[in-house]
Amino acid sequence: MKITFANQDLPKSGAAIVYALAGRKLSASAAQLDKQLAGALTRAMANSRFKGDKGQTLEVLAPGKSDLTRVLLLGMGAAKDITDLMIENAAASAVKRLNSSGENEATLIVDSLAAGRDTGADAARSAFGALLESYRFDKYRTKEKPDAKPTLKKLVVATEPHKEAKKAYAALEEIAAGVFTTRDIVSEPANIIYPQSFVAEARKLEKLGVEIEVLGEKEMAKLGMGSLLGVGQGSARESQLLIMRWNGLAATGKAKAKTAKAAKAASDAPLLVVGKGVTFDTGGISIKPAGGMEDMKWDMGGAGTVLGLMRALAGRKARADVVGICGLVENMPDGAAQRPGDVVTSMSGQTIEVINTDAEGRLVLADALWFGQERFQPKAVIDLATLTGAIIISLGHEHAGLFSNDDGLSDQLLEAGLGVGEKLWRLPLGEAYDKAINSDIADMKNTGNRAGGSITAAQFLQRFIKQGTPWAHLDIAGVAWTNEARPTVPKGATAFGVRLLDRLVAKNYES
Ligand code: BES
Ligand code: MN
Ligand code: ZN
Repeated sequence: MKITFANQDLPKSGAAIVYALAGRKLSASAAQLDKQLAGALTRAMANSRFKGDKGQTLEVLAPGKSDLTRVLLLGMGAAKDITDLMIENAAASAVKRLNSSGENEATLIVDSLAAGRDTGADAARSAFGALLESYRFDKYRTKEKPDAKPTLKKLVVATEPHKEAKKAYAALEEIAAGVFTTRDIVSEPANIIYPQSFVAEARKLEKLGVEIEVLGEKEMAKLGMGSLLGVGQGSARESQLLIMRWNGLAATGKAKAKTAKAAKAASDAPLLVVGKGVTFDTGGISIKPAGGMEDMKWDMGGAGTVLGLMRALAGRKARADVVGICGLVENMPDGAAQRPGDVVTSMSGQTIEVINTDAEGRLVLADALWFGQERFQPKAVIDLATLTGAIIISLGHEHAGLFSNDDGLSDQLLEAGLGVGEKLWRLPLGEAYDKAINSDIADMKNTGNRAGGSITAAQFLQRFIKQGTPWAHLDIAGVAWTNEARPTVPKGATAFGVRLLDRLVAKNYES
């Protein structure tokens, strides 16, 4: 779907999309259109349940004496309650509706929705929502019936001033590109995306200025990463540690800053983001049941999000230094696979008794987190992982779990999540939980008992966070994939975390 911006003229053909507020109040453009159509919109509203409430839509077909195919009214509720997210979602639901109506071309007229709202920014938001909604992973469909395919080819966002709207949209388009990078790689099956092919995808970011470094098994063995390597040792695919650096301060000229303060900002420690990248999780020797195992192709969702985040930051040239690390392994049962009861030594020197080979994500993160802290002395560490089934029992698919040793970082993350519709819920950490992973023969074991499964997993990770480093862990097992479409988030890989962390960086790490 091609999105363009134009002046706020009423369209003569195709579909027109306009807003209505609570109480069947048409926006200024909608009212103008209604007049042109001899009151067709007012009559349609009066004859339906459509009241202009938030989320309501009304489709008026072949209205009045015009060449318009239809007018789609988007209910926005009370003007004072309108948010950026509502604007994105309204445009997204319009795109969804028109795609199944068979429409080819539409004009969305964005006019002033409420006093104090920036119309140009709202127009850009609308285009962003429409773009996010238009995502499809259809590369493996060779026989789809034309009737099942989305039809909308062209969306014109009509607004004044459209030049400003277009400019604001440019940065949002880069964020969407990051989201799509994540959705693509997470949707790919595990015969296509495995540690080395994941790295090959990441290399595509080099042309945007992202520095890529890769450690293979030999290099990781030298560094003593026995915890990560143990997980991959039953796989025919070589494990990889992928390091991506976006030096946004230097890239945007801050390094050459004249003042001492600016120079200091440029040499500041980076933000470190670490992702679990288990490209397929069979469970290993503690093998998973067959039913639903295919879902474990997206057990690299955390790493996928880190990749998409780097794409977004580099694309919009964020003025911040961010390092992304992905621990990439495939967890397979095999003659060489690790056994329950094995003891491995992590890069931190701490030993781990592997009680269950299916609790592999934390083993991968342990070494990736330690390596990242040793190498980069980051000012904060955030990890993302499809870590536990237990988080789905706790929070369902509405919130990701948030665990942190730092209230400030926690609050920043919670707020960023609310702003982009990727909600987090904080769960506790504490000594009593930590005890559950003490081992009789090693420094720790990789599972607790059934109680508080997501928390004991987080406690395990915390043992690999250095004293004084602000850290947050996002357990995204319940939100990385969805079987139910929502506005801007079609079924499948959601890319949860890309928008959230992009916003966290924009609000708290960019000068
Ligand atoms: N990748 C899974 C967690 C998961 C489950 C993600 C369902 C998405 C959907 C993880 O590696 C795992 O297997 N965790 C175990 C831990 C247990 C053995 C302590 C789990 O949650 O059952
Ligand atoms: Mn597992
Ligand atoms: Zn896993």
